Amino acid sequence: MSEPIGVMFVCLGNICRSPLAHALFVHKARERGLADRFDVDSAGTAAYHTGKPPDPRTRAVLAKHGVKSVGAARQASPADFDRFDHILAMDRQNLRNLRAIAPSGLASRIRLALEPTSGGEVPDPYYGGVDGFGQVYAMLDEALDAWLERWVP
Ligand code: 4NP
Repeated sequence: MSEPIGVMFVCLGNICRSPLAHALFVHKARERGLADRFDVDSAGTAAYHTGKPPDPRTRAVLAKHGVKSVGAARQASPADFDRFDHILAMDRQNLRNLRAIAPSGLASRIRLALEPTSGGEVPDPYYGGVDGFGQVYAMLDEALDAWLERWVP
């Protein structure tokens, strides 16, 4: 068996968008019998919420779709660029912040999470209502299928 493909999802706080993407990607990989093919994690560019579980609104939208939530928030670090082949940022600010900590030659691992679909950003849902989390779910649902199709055609 070849080395697993390393995939890390990154947002600002690692409590709303990136843990949703992380949990949903693990779920999709499992459904396709591909769980062993991937090493998946998520992180935030900021450390405000380190150690906290995902936001209750992220957990609720995951539960609604039968997806198991994932663990505690942590901050992204330069060492992540060795472990992960694909570092998928939720918005352009996250992308810039990741570029700023990328070790020399490894910034090409950073892409926008929605690159294979709209190419745009996953909006920060933190200060909005529950609807925003449903929209985040729908955008990521489509994009993660597209990434999986790219990586394991
Ligand atoms: P996330 O959302 O980046 O999707 O986890 C946010 C979480 C917390 C904050 C902002 C965005 N905050 O300002 O504390």
